[in-house]
Amino acid sequence: MREMATADFESPEATDAGELTGERVREVLATVRYPGLSRDLVSFGMVEHVSVCDRRVKVRLAIATRDPGIPAQLRTRIADALLPLGAATVAVEIAPPSTTPKPTARGTPDPWAEQVRLAAVRHVVAVGAGKGGVGKSTVAANLALLLAREGLRAGLLDADIYGPSLPLLLGIEDGAGRVRMTPDKHILPLEAHGLPLISFGFFLGEGSPAIWRGPMVSKAVKQFSRGVAWPELDVLIVDLPPGTGDIPLSLAQAVVLSGAVVVTQPARVATAEARKAAQMFQTLEVPVLGIVENMAGAFGHGAGAAIAAELAVPFLGSVPFDEGMVAEGDAGIPTALARPRSEAALAMEVVAHAVASALGWQHVADGSAPGAER
Ligand SMILES: Nc1ncnc2c1ncn2[C@@H]1O[C@H](COP(=O)(O)OP(=O)(O)O)[C@@H](O)[C@H]1O
Ligand SMILES: [Mg+2]
Repeated sequence: MREMATADFESPEATDAGELTGERVREVLATVRYPGLSRDLVSFGMVEHVSVCDRRVKVRLAIATRDPGIPAQLRTRIADALLPLGAATVAVEIAPPSTTPKPTARGTPDPWAEQVRLAAVRHVVAVGAGKGGVGKSTVAANLALLLAREGLRAGLLDADIYGPSLPLLLGIEDGAGRVRMTPDKHILPLEAHGLPLISFGFFLGEGSPAIWRGPMVSKAVKQFSRGVAWPELDVLIVDLPPGTGDIPLSLAQAVVLSGAVVVTQPARVATAEARKAAQMFQTLEVPVLGIVENMAGAFGHGAGAAIAAELAVPFLGSVPFDEGMVAEGDAGIPTALARPRSEAALAMEVVAHAVASALGWQHVADGSAPGAER
């Protein structure tokens, strides 16, 4: 069921300036960015169809968004780009992507076409945030450890190219020198506190990825996310860099994600950014498993739940500010292990149970291995 919505824009003074072809329209669409994201509509794979007849342009976009403002913004951006080139009318049709793979227009590589399901991993869960420093990596590390304690086979992938911190948080900063490859050139994960783990940080060397351009990042994320020889895992937690840049987009296009967890601080700036991150995942059709509020108390309280309600996604829990966590992070022993009875660790446990049940696992109170619904 595809709900259609179209809008026509008329050019007040349509001129005969040059020939407007479908190809030309695509070129122009390749310069129009999706609101709030760094990528254009064409490379994103959102342009389903373009037709031009007598300077009347029709564009069909495949977009899933719950943000009611996005379609209007896109129509305006597209009309603004095409009317000056001589289009008489611009009709933009926006429909949710069909679930069956769609043939893309001639000559346009579909960036989603190569998306794979990681063979050894049942669920890949991305942990993202809009803003840096909100405690995303800390939440990712504790979440993976607590899921493992519940009996799930959990692993960690540190995909934060710009600031990989899981080696530090899990006490394996010497990892770079220890990584080995399989004979068929797959990366063998290291182990930290019993969890298989691989970090971009093990491969960065001296090169600074901060200056990498989009296509390089995209390729690196693709190779990295697929190139690890994971053991059989129930869940792989992926620590993403903050923001809505190329890495989350590339990851979602490279491997099938079961869901995303968005971490925020209670402060306004952080929640505004978290909203963007959650909306990005919804655009990418990655289910938002929920919002985690971190460092509650120090920066207020309750904003995480409010943003979850606003976006109609689950609220997974609130982790208090606990200054001991900083030292534990620096020492490479996450709080869930260092002080399992602390308020912060217990709060992380609530989050872990919520994530496990969102993925279909029932929490078993006596601590025996939970049953999975397959
Ligand atoms: N609940 C918390 N209370 C106190 N400090 C925290 C908490 N969560 C994370 N931290 C600390 O905040 C800093 C940033 O956390 P980190 O997980 O690296 O953030 P991000 O990955 O979002 O950049 C680290 O020093 C970490 O130990
Ligand atoms: Mg981090």
